[in-house]
Amino acid sequence: MPSRPSVYLETFGCQMNELDSELVTGQLVALGYAMVAEPNLAQVVLYNTCSVRDLAEQKVRSRLGEMRIRKQNDPAIVVGVLGCMAERDGAALINKFPAVDVLCGPAELDKLPGLLDNAWRTRQSMVNDFENGSSRGVGGSAKQIALQGDASRRSSTLAAAQDTLELLDLSRSVSPSDHSGSAYVRITRGCNKFCTYCVVPNTRGAEMHRPPDHIIDECKRLADAGVIEITLLGQTVNHYRYEHGAAITVAGIEQPQKGRTYKGGHQRDILAGERVTTFADLLKRIHDEVPAILRLRFVTSYPRDFGDDVLEVIRDSPRICRYLHVPAQSGSDTQLSRMNRGYTVSEYMDFLDRARAILHEPEKGRPLTIAGDMIVGFCGETDEDFRASIDLLERARYKNCFIFKYSPRPGTSAFDKIADDVPEDVKRKRCNDLLAVQHRISDEVAQEQVGRTFDVFVEGASRHEQKKRKASADGNAGINLTVGGRAVSDPSGGIAVIDHDDAPTQLSGRTDGDLIVVFDRPEGKPLESLVGGIHKVRITKANVLTLFGELV
Ligand code: SAH
Ligand code: SF4
Ligand code: F3S
Repeated sequence: MPSRPSVYLETFGCQMNELDSELVTGQLVALGYAMVAEPNLAQVVLYNTCSVRDLAEQKVRSRLGEMRIRKQNDPAIVVGVLGCMAERDGAALINKFPAVDVLCGPAELDKLPGLLDNAWRTRQSMVNDFENGSSRGVGGSAKQIALQGDASRRSSTLAAAQDTLELLDLSRSVSPSDHSGSAYVRITRGCNKFCTYCVVPNTRGAEMHRPPDHIIDECKRLADAGVIEITLLGQTVNHYRYEHGAAITVAGIEQPQKGRTYKGGHQRDILAGERVTTFADLLKRIHDEVPAILRLRFVTSYPRDFGDDVLEVIRDSPRICRYLHVPAQSGSDTQLSRMNRGYTVSEYMDFLDRARAILHEPEKGRPLTIAGDMIVGFCGETDEDFRASIDLLERARYKNCFIFKYSPRPGTSAFDKIADDVPEDVKRKRCNDLLAVQHRISDEVAQEQVGRTFDVFVEGASRHEQKKRKASADGNAGINLTVGGRAVSDPSGGIAVIDHDDAPTQLSGRTDGDLIVVFDRPEGKPLESLVGGIHKVRITKANVLTLFGELV
């Protein structure tokens, strides 16, 4: 096999993109590409991009500007844009940034190796032609493009039959060295909700549910490789529903299924049973069939699609985390309706009450923690609407909440139909005000944990400890200790080997409710006996971001 170019891959955006990057990396490494940690060491530079807000795209645009300059000195280099920005901007991106050679949307990533191979050969031959005095020169435009475009919402049959992407998930490499005890597993692709502000249904295409057996098998393989924590991924993860017998088989493999009849809502799924695997069924199957997974969580949940069946499965399954990320987006019914969210504030609050009634058991060391997302300054938001969002935060009492200023996205219906009429300085002020409210609430939620004892999944050195060690290592052999005690090479190529006396004394981990816990490693307790495992820690004090405690 001819030697392959070296590849640098940088990831922006959500967990879905992190997983995609992991799959792409596995695929490229299997083909003989070497991944490198610095763009200037690479012959192929890839950006896996996000389009959800303009800021996310700006970061990529600035990287592409840097690559334009680099390409002037190094014309053979291949630059690829993967993910949601490639899909949203399409060929227009290449017009703006001619340095881009490869465009690959998130639903086409299985085609990436072929695109890269073509792009690499083309660049090489162009450079050779140029050096030999041929007229084609290095500015030639043999761009490699794979985008879903209009096909993303064709009929279910066609879309499902074309979904060779499933093969990418199925071919996932799960060797122990790839994972640090924790992994993502996709259960649903795409989104059908069309919230008016959101670009995701355009970039990720129609909602598709993966066959439950594929998911269980992937969880088992990850567990065999030493993974003990799995986070299931989907844009509306709790909308998962698989109808057996309605599946299409391509090349002997059952394909993901388009979200069909289920309208969501709070009711139980009456078709649940043999013919349908509901989200509740899926959680229970993973919990029962893969007991080596000690922590099972899922993100992101859609407020409208939680039947009590799901909450009861969580309550009755000790290894499913008492953690929900269930964004409200606004506390005003007018705004929720403009956003096309499909629920009212009172329905949202009823759901939180229901979830807490069933799942909040602090006396058993299992409080329910809830995280949210809010958008401020969406079209038409008045002071009163904004006050309603503050009020929602006060009532919801999230452990943390991601707060975003509305960013109009081309291709969404809000962009086309509703004026972005809240001035930037008002958006900024509302964002800061809401952050301040959440900051106080997060602190209060943290203080409530003092005196409680939690099972903590110990991940490695605390951030504080990492910084301290990085500084004392003189910027040369930085330590980035991961679960399992492996020392990972830093970008400068130095590898830090950790001996016992020098092992970090302050460790950090997370509760099943995703609260960060920091504690000191007791003297004489070897690092390997703690990191990567679950241990009991009693909380002695807390601040807004972190709980501090001692091993019991
Ligand atoms: N599927 C998830 C969210 C995916 S996008 C859900 O429905 O909850 C992640 C978050 O980005 C959203 O929850 C929303 O708060 C924010 N977001 C999406 N589009 C946005 C936009 N145009 N401007 C600002 N924030 C946005
Ligand atoms: Fe976007 Fe709404 Fe889908 Fe979430 S549910 S990804 S916010 S369209
Ligand atoms: Fe961004 Fe695409 Fe995820 S737009 S948030 S990377 S689904």
